[in-house]
Amino acid sequence: MKKTIYISFIITLIFLSIGLLQSCKTSLEVKEKTGAVLWSENCSRCHYSPDPEDYNDAQWEVIAMHMRVRTNLTAEESEKITRFLQESN
Ligand code: HEC
Repeated sequence: MKKTIYISFIITLIFLSIGLLQSCKTSLEVKEKTGAVLWSENCSRCHYSPDPEDYNDAQWEVIAMHMRVRTNLTAEESEKITRFLQESN
């Protein structure tokens, strides 16, 4: 009986570590995302995706600060999106 409990504990541990490895892989994928991808995924949740040409570089700088808080982005993600918008206007 004890052995069965021990074995199921080990199996649970194995599944947990596989899950953990999977989540590490996902966060790596997030790191590799370009500004354009992050922009299309995050900036149309609440309103239509803004056109990069709608604002100039300085305006995007300010908008990015406001929308970073709303979107809950990391500094890196926000910078990538801002750079993409500034390069595309
Ligand atoms: C959680 C919802 C939410 C998300 C996500 C969001 N926005 Fe917004 N956005 C708003 C709201 C609400 C307004 C209008 C009020 C305001 O300007 O604060 C707005 C306004 C704007 C405006 C118009 C600003 C102006 O002065 O006319 C732009 C441009 C914009 N968002 C860009 C973005 C970009 C780029 C992203 C992605 C990084 C983004 N938004 C993500 C809620 C959001």
